Amino acid sequence: MVGLTLGGTLSIALAQTKKPAAPAKPTAAQIAAGAKVYDASGCGGCHMINGKGGAAGPDLSTTGADPKHTAKWMEVQVVTPKVHKADSAMPAGDTIKGKDLTNLSAYLTSLKKAAPAKPDSPKPSSP
Ligand code: HEC
Repeated sequence: MVGLTLGGTLSIALAQTKKPAAPAKPTAAQIAAGAKVYDASGCGGCHMINGKGGAAGPDLSTTGADPKHTAKWMEVQVVTPKVHKADSAMPAGDTIKGKDLTNLSAYLTSLKKAAPAKPDSPKPSSP
């Protein structure tokens, strides 16, 4: 005659699965505008993205995958690279401002994968 009261425990567990608020995600329009700023600013002369560009700077194809590389970090890197590296070879992009800078940093943080993702590639059909 021992009753189990699992029901109460279960509803408490369910109530705690709420996700914390995520930081504002850049929109596709911001990222597209940022890619244009990147091209117009000559960044590709030194940086490679998905196989295109120069090799004087690091490949940026997955630069946004580093959790340290927040949008703010990107803005500092673009405008004042010497803050991150005293002897930085990267020129200060201090002509990039306002919306252009926000969009460029949105674009940079969106760079996470070297190639389009294919999470479940089809298996060869079995006989
Ligand atoms: C003259 C070559 C040169 C140009 C032009 C240049 N960079 Fe760089 N960049 C570098 C080098 C070298 C580094 C490596 C770190 C350092 O020296 O500051 C770097 C580092 C970076 C990083 C950090 C990458 C990482 O994963 O650590 C980002 C992001 C970046 N550059 C973005 C840009 C953007 C955006 C532009 C255009 C506005 C640009 N760079 C223009 C040379 C350049």
